[in-house]
Amino acid sequence: MSTELHETARALVAEGKGILAADESTGTIKKRFDSIGVESTEENRRAYRDLLFTTPGAEEFISGVILYDETIRQSAIDGTPFPELLASKGIIPGIKVDEGAKPLALAEGETVTEGLDGLRARLEEYRGLGARFAKWRATYTIGDTLPSEYCIWANAHALARYAALCQEAGIVPIVEPEVLQDGTHTIERSGFVTSHVLAALYTELFDQRVDVEGTLLKPNMVLSGYEASSRAGVEDVAQATVHTLRKHVPAAVPGIVFLSGGQSDEDATAHLNAMNALGPHPWQLSFSYGRALQAPALKAWGGKEENIEAGQRAYYHRAKMNSAARTGVYAPAMEEELAAV
Ligand code: 13P
Repeated sequence: MSTELHETARALVAEGKGILAADESTGTIKKRFDSIGVESTEENRRAYRDLLFTTPGAEEFISGVILYDETIRQSAIDGTPFPELLASKGIIPGIKVDEGAKPLALAEGETVTEGLDGLRARLEEYRGLGARFAKWRATYTIGDTLPSEYCIWANAHALARYAALCQEAGIVPIVEPEVLQDGTHTIERSGFVTSHVLAALYTELFDQRVDVEGTLLKPNMVLSGYEASSRAGVEDVAQATVHTLRKHVPAAVPGIVFLSGGQSDEDATAHLNAMNALGPHPWQLSFSYGRALQAPALKAWGGKEENIEAGQRAYYHRAKMNSAARTGVYAPAMEEELAAV
C-alpha cells in the first residue's frame, strides 16, 4: 500500500497538532449561524470560513482542515481557492464525503450513514480539488436496547467500504463512529457500547482489506450521558476512554482524533489533556474538533466584519489550548491568556 497514505496520516497527527472540522453541512451551519443571529447565505458561509482559514499562525497547531462540498469549491477574498490557501500554509485539506445519517430501515430510532453510491467518482474529483483526506461519520444512539447489532454492523460495513474506496483514490480515510452522548446512561454503558462499535469497525476494516496504517480513527470519548444524574469527572473520562481504545484500536493506527460532540470547549480540552497525561500510548491522541474549536470564534465574530480579528484571536487561542493538551501540559489557568491580549 502506498506510503503516501501513511505519510499523510502521520502528518495529520504531527506533534502538537490536530484537525479543525469545518465541514458543517448547509443545514448544520445554518443552526450555528441561527445561534448568533446571522443569515446563512453562501457569502456569509464563505466569509466565516475565510476568517478561520486566514487566521495568522493557526498552522502552528492545525495540521488539517475538513471542508464541506460547498467550501472546497470556494475561495478566499483575494480569489485563492480555499484548498490552495490551506496547502500554502502547510495545512492539509480534507473533505467530508458522507451524505448524512438516514433512518435505518426496520430499525426504529436508528440511523445508517449514506453516500456510497457514486463515491469513487466523487473521491477522484475531490482529490483533483486538493483533498488528501476524508471523513465519514456514523452515529449510534444509546437507549435501553440500542444500538442494535444490526445498526452497529450496517454502519461498520459502510465505514469500511468508504475507507477502501478512499485508499484506492490515494485519500486517507478518517473513520468516525460516533456513539452519541445524549441520554441518561452511565459512563460504563458508554464504554460498553463504544467497545462493541469499535470491535465491529475493525473487523470490517480488516475484512475489506483496508490498510489501517493509512487511516485515522475519530471516535467519541467515553462519557456519562449529558442528562445523567451524576456525571463522571475528567480523570474518570480519561481512564475509561483510554481503556476502551486500548482494547480495540490496533497499535498500527497512527492516530486517534477525537470529536467534541457537544462537550464545552474547555471540557474537550481538559479531557484530551488528561488522556495524554496517561501516556505514552501506542497511537497519537489528538483532536478533530468542530464546535469545541469554533464556538468562541463564532460568537466573537457575530457576522460583523469589524469582529474578524476578535474571531481569529478566539480560534487561535482554542487551537493553542488543544495543542497544549496534546502533550498533557494544558492547565485551566492558561485560559486567562486570551483575556490578557
Ligand atoms: P464536533 O467536534 O462539533 O462534534 O464536530 C466534529 C465533527 O466533525 C463531527 O462529525
